[in-house]
Amino acid sequence: MAANYIESKIIDPTVAPELAVAGKVAARHAKRGVTPKYFIQTFGCQQNEADSERLAGLCEAMGYTRTSSPDDALLILVNTCAIREHAEKKALSIIGQYKHIKDANPDVVIGVGGCMVTQEARSTKLKMSYPYVSFTFDTGAIHKVPSLVLNALEKKSRQFVLSDNWTIAESLPIARESKHMAWLSIMYGCNNFCSYCIVPYVRGRERSRRADDIIEEAKQLIADGARDITLLGQNVNSYNGGDGCDIAELLHRIAALDGDFRLRFMTSHPKDASDRLIEAMATEEKIVKHFHLPVQSGSNEILKQMNRKYTAEAYLEKIAKLRAAVPDVSITSDIIVGFPGETEEDFEGTLRMLEAARYDMIFSFIYSPRNGTPAAKMENQVPHDVSTARFERLLATQNKISDERNRRFLGRKLRVLAEDVSKNDETMLTGRGDPVRPVHFAGGRELIGQFVDVEVTGVSTFCLEAKII
Ligand code: SAH
Ligand code: SF4
Ligand code: F3S
Repeated sequence: MAANYIESKIIDPTVAPELAVAGKVAARHAKRGVTPKYFIQTFGCQQNEADSERLAGLCEAMGYTRTSSPDDALLILVNTCAIREHAEKKALSIIGQYKHIKDANPDVVIGVGGCMVTQEARSTKLKMSYPYVSFTFDTGAIHKVPSLVLNALEKKSRQFVLSDNWTIAESLPIARESKHMAWLSIMYGCNNFCSYCIVPYVRGRERSRRADDIIEEAKQLIADGARDITLLGQNVNSYNGGDGCDIAELLHRIAALDGDFRLRFMTSHPKDASDRLIEAMATEEKIVKHFHLPVQSGSNEILKQMNRKYTAEAYLEKIAKLRAAVPDVSITSDIIVGFPGETEEDFEGTLRMLEAARYDMIFSFIYSPRNGTPAAKMENQVPHDVSTARFERLLATQNKISDERNRRFLGRKLRVLAEDVSKNDETMLTGRGDPVRPVHFAGGRELIGQFVDVEVTGVSTFCLEAKII
């Protein structure tokens, strides 16, 4: 089977007609002399954030303008996540809160998309129990939103789309959140079927965008002022852009573009992270020296049950290679505690992994059974109090390591991108560079979007303090 394939038929031919429908919706609003507003609530990972920027692009093509408050909006879209139970609960609770908006104004249109409603049971739940939701659309049907909105405006029947459409919707308009930091999706879907994970079921099979299309988008982004570009995919290591263009080649090609910008990529699967990719990071100055390489567990038995296809030893060999090639690299990871059957000994293997890999930061999660995945049916589910206690120990171990890792930056000169005003202090800016933690420094708003040279004057677990040189 051509698993991760690249063929012209993978580009969805129904995009252009949908854009025409968006124009119809815009004309309808214009005829009535109104400029309606849209509001998008996004849950989940960067993939969803990138998808929401496409949804925003479609909303604007339909003549809506953005608002930051759902109460002002005539079109509310919720982009949901299904990775853990908590994510689904949060989405359902927010959707519940929008009922009063629809009650107050029946002209409001509410649509729900994303990974949660790509599961039939959830789509049906919204149909049955959330009558004020006009439509749902799965992750393969983002470009169908103009038709769904038009249908709702014409007060036709409610729609619940489960298209099972794993193509690529190329050429959708994108309304980006930030001018200087950009997501750039290079592929969609996942073929790995880790036994705990819902993603392959709700995002479909792996499919890569054509390298030339990605390069064009990157050029445009740089011309528009992007300074920090993250290439996105569930497993970017299996990117296949045709004519032998793998992720390493793609990074080299983008890094060769003119302009002052930095490049990131995520996520990497340890079984596929290649020497060529490591070499690209080592040799390309524009690639940020940060490698996100989720290990999930340090126990070989658990890794096997998770269907991760590597051992703790093989993983650590990869880390050693990476550190040898990129000595100052920041490495981060995802960890799941309380996977079915995880014993105290297995968990201690994970703690040992933290000590051995010496991550700069981890994203840690308590295992959450997902309906339809093999792990949800496994016996020996770990009691919640045991998982919670392990989770606390995991954090304590990692915080110590993060502290130690952050300290290496003390006194160092760094080039960071001034990203935004600091949340807690108006006179401070927050910046991003090679460290995975944000860098805070005194500076004016006019610097936002520019690279700034700073010297690190203080470090803590969660951030670095610095001053402009
Ligand atoms: N494609 C990426 C990210 C997937 S989702 C990867 O393979 O690394 C992000 C993280 O959520 C995963 O790495 C995993 O640590 C966590 N996760 C996925 N399913 C989960 C589940 N059922 N319960 C708890 N955490 C989960
Ligand atoms: Fe989920 Fe595994 Fe795919 Fe990541 S690689 S999205 S954890 S199935
Ligand atoms: Fe969630 Fe879907 Fe991302 S399940 S983590 S939004 S791919």
